[in-house]
Amino acid sequence: MGATVIDGIGQLVTCDPRLGDGSALGLLHDAALVVDGDRVAWAGPRSEAPAADALVNAGGRAVIPGFVDSHSHLVFAGDRSADFAARMEGRPYSTGGIRTTVAATRAATDEQLAAQVARHVEEMLRQGTTTVETKSGYGLTAHDEARALAVARQLTPETTFLGAHVVAPEYADDPGGYVDLVTGPMLEACAPYARWVDVFCERGAFDADQARAVLSAGVAAGLGARVHANQLGPGPGVQVACELGAAAADHCTFLSDEDVAALRDAGVVATLLPGVEFSTRSPYPDARRLLAAGVTVALASDCNPGSCYSSSMPLCIALAVREMHMSPAEAMWSATAGGAAALRRDDVGRLAPGALADLVLLEAPSYVHLAYRPGVPLAAGVWQRGRPVV
Ligand code: NIG
Ligand code: FE
Repeated sequence: MGATVIDGIGQLVTCDPRLGDGSALGLLHDAALVVDGDRVAWAGPRSEAPAADALVNAGGRAVIPGFVDSHSHLVFAGDRSADFAARMEGRPYSTGGIRTTVAATRAATDEQLAAQVARHVEEMLRQGTTTVETKSGYGLTAHDEARALAVARQLTPETTFLGAHVVAPEYADDPGGYVDLVTGPMLEACAPYARWVDVFCERGAFDADQARAVLSAGVAAGLGARVHANQLGPGPGVQVACELGAAAADHCTFLSDEDVAALRDAGVVATLLPGVEFSTRSPYPDARRLLAAGVTVALASDCNPGSCYSSSMPLCIALAVREMHMSPAEAMWSATAGGAAALRRDDVGRLAPGALADLVLLEAPSYVHLAYRPGVPLAAGVWQRGRPVV
């Protein structure tokens, strides 16, 4: 198959400041994009587009990079809609619900788990998410964590070992013994299927020393670190993430000035998950404070059965703009290039020559419509690795 030119792009978001208007979004108007194999071969003004073998006309619509959702929990079974209903009637979110999902996940077959992950990844793709990170964390035995990751690995290379989600019920009286399991036999079983190691560093889950032990063991086994940090209250998660050179600290809802400075100085990406605050009716993180300090901010869904059962990156963008006062441009960047930074990837989250041809054709003249038209399915076409998939 030869090259395809996508012509008639009303607005092209490249997320490459060297292209287009010089902004972080690298915006081009009346643009064209050439896709060759799985990569972007060329992007620029349509009047200068090189010849190609096939032509697609975007009809003046906007084209953006596929969303990079750098934080989700898709390998689970069971239903927690009753938790959600109770929460909406006033009960607060707690980590205890995770154990309900653990029981259901352990009882599910590999086939059932695989079907569930595939269904979610497909749902994400239809909304424009072309790169997805997903985690274990609802198995909490070496066998159940490893099979969760093996299932996830079939669908994405961005898999994260989260054996340290909560202490397994069998170890309720022996959290130290559980950390030994996570850092020993469980890690050994899981590392072949994982790129990352994560820990829920929070009151009710794991403390700073336990988090350090989990992350250091994962790093020694060749995994990159990422952390669930400062979600439910102030705590040591962000500092531990910075100390251990994690790629990202996720949630970042309750931060001290020292936390913000540490994220900036360590170059750790702050991943904000506004779907969680929306779904748990909690205060949003202070995105403006992070941006003002020069911290790299990513947006991700955190799609999971407990704190946010939405896979929608457009919803995250709308919430980031409406509730966290990010500009539409900042939110667009954080949902694509920001997610790529959180996964230490330079081949996704942007549409420049050499990047993977992962892109979304919007049923809109501008990316601003993602925030301007909340709840409206705007992904009119999705290309992944150079192939139209939606
Ligand atoms: O990212 N914070 C920990 N884990 C998930 C929630 C998991 C659950 O409630 O099932 C989160 O919010
Ligand atoms: Fe999470």
